[in-house]
Amino acid sequence: MRSLEDVVLKKWSAAVLAGALAVGALAGCGGDDGDGGGGGGDKLVMGFSQVGAESGWRTANTKSIQESAAAAGIELKFSDAQGKQENQIKAIRSFIAQRVDVIAFSPVVESGWDPVLKEAKDANIPVILTDRSVDSTDKTLYKTFIGSDFVLEGQKAGLWLTKEYEGKPGPVNIVELQGSPGAAPANDRKAGFAEVIKKDPKFKVIASQTGQFTRTDGKEVMEAFLKTYPDIDVLYAHNDDMGLGAIEAIEAAGKKPGTDIKIVTVDAVKDGMTALSQGKINFIVECSPLLGPQLMDLAKKVKAGEQVETRVLTEETTFNKEQATAALPTRKY
Ligand code: AHR
Repeated sequence: MRSLEDVVLKKWSAAVLAGALAVGALAGCGGDDGDGGGGGGDKLVMGFSQVGAESGWRTANTKSIQESAAAAGIELKFSDAQGKQENQIKAIRSFIAQRVDVIAFSPVVESGWDPVLKEAKDANIPVILTDRSVDSTDKTLYKTFIGSDFVLEGQKAGLWLTKEYEGKPGPVNIVELQGSPGAAPANDRKAGFAEVIKKDPKFKVIASQTGQFTRTDGKEVMEAFLKTYPDIDVLYAHNDDMGLGAIEAIEAAGKKPGTDIKIVTVDAVKDGMTALSQGKINFIVECSPLLGPQLMDLAKKVKAGEQVETRVLTEETTFNKEQATAALPTRKY
């Protein structure tokens, strides 16, 4: 009989392999069409709508996209949606009106994109989803989706927890800080984690609330959790920033993060990794923001009318304290 761990690890390895193959395929075609831009002779123009600047991850992602566009000779029209779907829809409409070559965006939420994506399709402007996907059933509305498997990330967090408490008695009281409501990483990280821990009834999610992927909200919500629940064993935060905010609340309440309350987060940005190396966080599931180079390669292929993989998975790992300490000196973000 296959254990849950076998199943998750198998899926994990398959995902990494698929990502590596996709990256290999992209590297093979290189996007060098001889004109330093797109396939048509002019400089490729990309309209990019970013979620906002809610986290360290997002800042690193923006930097990766801007630097990669410059390095690839792509003109980037960058728009910050400040966490609002309506701003993203406006930005996409403006990119359509400007007749950019390619539209790329990281959707604030999963739902409600079909009408604007249809407008882009009708205008013959290809769309690339980066980081987060949409729940559209019509897959012809976008060319490809490059980013992480967020369900798998939640599963990895859950798997770490089940190992950490293996053979130990319950209950294990868990509080969860969710990402922004309706966002794919919030939905999927919650689902993946729940799927793994539900196999053992000793794991109990006693409270679960959004911390908006920000440090400030993570701190505020954790303060409220600490007041209401005196017996919290574990915090599962959907990103490092919320975990870091929660650490401040835990310390202010006179408890030791990582010891009195075990903490598992997602992202692995420098600040999170530093807290992990200090023992304040116990485990981090990596989610890479460095999507820029692959995005630019994909945009060039799409503009040149080449076929692209419809799903490009990001290659990622996990970190414990020792691994974080070893990785920190060369961590780019
Ligand atoms: O979509 C990726 C998520 O969005 C990151 O994990 C989080 O930090 C960010 O805000």
